[in-house]
Amino acid sequence: MSGTQHGIADCFSPASINGLQLKNRFIKAGTFENMTPSGVPGAALNNFHGTLADGGIAMTTLGYCAVEADGRLNEGMMYMHEGIRPQLTALISDLHSRGTKVSGQMAHCGGFSKNSELRRRRPLGPSFGLNGLGLSRGMLFCDAMTLSDIDELIQHYYQAAVFMKSVGFDALEIHFGHGYGLCQFMSPKTNKRKDNYGGSFENRMRLPLQVLAAVRDAVGEDFPLLAKISMTEGVRGGLHYDDAIEISKLLDSAGIDGIITSGGTSTMNPMIMFRGGNILPGMLRTEKSRVMRLALRMMGKSMFKDYPYHELYFLKQAKRIREAVSCKMIYVGGASSNASFATLMEQGFDFIQLGRTLLSDPDLPNRAQADANFISRCTHCNDCVSTIESPQGIHCTQF
Ligand SMILES: Cc1cc2nc3c(=O)[nH]c(=O)nc-3n(C[C@H](O)[C@H](O)[C@H](O)COP(=O)(O)O)c2cc1C
Repeated sequence: MSGTQHGIADCFSPASINGLQLKNRFIKAGTFENMTPSGVPGAALNNFHGTLADGGIAMTTLGYCAVEADGRLNEGMMYMHEGIRPQLTALISDLHSRGTKVSGQMAHCGGFSKNSELRRRRPLGPSFGLNGLGLSRGMLFCDAMTLSDIDELIQHYYQAAVFMKSVGFDALEIHFGHGYGLCQFMSPKTNKRKDNYGGSFENRMRLPLQVLAAVRDAVGEDFPLLAKISMTEGVRGGLHYDDAIEISKLLDSAGIDGIITSGGTSTMNPMIMFRGGNILPGMLRTEKSRVMRLALRMMGKSMFKDYPYHELYFLKQAKRIREAVSCKMIYVGGASSNASFATLMEQGFDFIQLGRTLLSDPDLPNRAQADANFISRCTHCNDCVSTIESPQGIHCTQF
């Protein structure tokens, strides 16, 4: 067999991560589906993930599971609490019966929120600053967390992890990237604290490592924990690729089981994450708030820069991390053909996360296994991103 044939065969062979056996190497990337009306997972979310399960995905991910009510970006997101235990248990058990494992993405928005049910006057981040998402809700700013807010946040992660393991999740993915709460602490751009949680790299990593330790404590040693990081924030004064290597090494030695190497931030530079069609026109089309539309018209061009799509756009930088850590590596970003999947296996990645291609081709793993020359139909137009606020939830608008 040639290298490529080996690579593609590997994609369909089982592999394990901290004792969890996955039937192939494909994992659904966390994509907030907006199928949790009033924060409750229901039939739409079940159908969405059920279709992916039937399409052969080894593990699906419930995107953006807020660890507490104020960790939600908006009030339509679910947060981890007893009130949704029956629905989550039923959803996960149905997916298990369809042969798919389920991971939960643990997230907190920090100082970036438009949640109208926020218990506080303003969302809390590492430092006082602008809350770019809150404009339409009159929440222009975020406040700095006190030390007791930080302790409380760590407790929220702990309790959410206990709850998530108890409802049947097979793995948890802690969101350290995309400009959300933990990333805000890691980034010198957003963390201006003068105490032990700000300043040096070591101090900025303190909370993320404490969160990892709390989650590990909650789930035990033999439960898979993944980390999603942004290798670069794509803004001057923020985190960049060299920082990501040091971040990954720290997470690795602190006991993470797998690292997912994404990039960009929803808060400052989202297009690095997706590449391809610019999401600004779609956002202008779907944004309901006039104030937000005005702000997008005025400032959108600088925030939504153009990054042309090419296959495996994070490969070069993700490989540097592959070489620096011993934990499992999960590639994400522009993997959409058998040739790319084979390359990733050959380059030493253990698993592949797929986002947009599973919206256009929900049965991608089965089709890729049946067709040696498989190429996804996804055109990377990124119109799916503008469906995030759609009443039917996220979907591919092309097929
Ligand atoms: C509609 C949509 C929603 C997304 N929501 C999330 C999310 O909730 N959490 C997250 O970490 N990433 C989110 N992402 C980013 C994806 O997980 C992934 O990193 C990105 O799409 C690149 O992978 P791809 O090229 O396979 O699509 C989202 C992407 C899309 C297209």
